[in-house]
Amino acid sequence: MTPQDGFSVERLERAFPVELNALIAEALAEGDDFMSGLAEHARTADDLDAEEGRFVGWAADRLAGVASITADPYVTDGLTGRLRWIYVRPVFRGRGLGERLVRACLDYGAGRWQRIRLHTENPIAERIYLRFGFVALGGTSPRATHERSSGQAQRDGNG
Ligand SMILES: CC(C)(COP(=O)(O)OP(=O)(O)OC[C@H]1O[C@@H](n2cnc3c(N)ncnc32)[C@H](O)[C@@H]1OP(=O)(O)O)[C@@H](O)C(=O)NCCC(=O)NCCS
Repeated sequence: MTPQDGFSVERLERAFPVELNALIAEALAEGDDFMSGLAEHARTADDLDAEEGRFVGWAADRLAGVASITADPYVTDGLTGRLRWIYVRPVFRGRGLGERLVRACLDYGAGRWQRIRLHTENPIAERIYLRFGFVALGGTSPRATHERSSGQAQRDGNG
């Protein structure tokens, strides 16, 4: 936990905590339908895929956010990772947890994949991704909106 933001970010090397169900319910209630994929993933991938970087953010003992990076299931070249299920519960937003979760995923993925792709339609999330060096694909890929090569420098903290 950093004293600045009050969150601790942890890589999970086990199944998701039970609080995940409440977090997903909140996400679906606010219309973030992509989080239904995480419910399915958590059900079917209890034994953590050795390649997956699965991160959770805690505010004391409350599950505040989740994020994951896996091999991109839509690209079979073995070189491409995908940022998935980035979600911070509404009450914990705007305090830097989303950015910390993205950074944790990218640090984890840097040695594993040559490029990282993602799909987002959320302009707030896009702002975070652009800061980390993602570029918009402008509709050239049906399964991804943004991409970044793994060698790119991480955000330096100055915006
Ligand atoms: C996108 C999301 C993960 C961001 O989480 P977060 O913890 O609020 O993000 P951060 O606190 O790290 O904020 C990152 C930037 O977004 C800004 N931001 C956060 N909430 C904002 C809001 N409601 N309006 C405007 N800007 C906002 C922050 O101010 C910050 O920018 P700054 O450094 O210039 O101030 C969160 O909004 C979320 O879960 N949204 C719904 C799910 C979603 O769309 N996930 C992404 C799918 S790819």
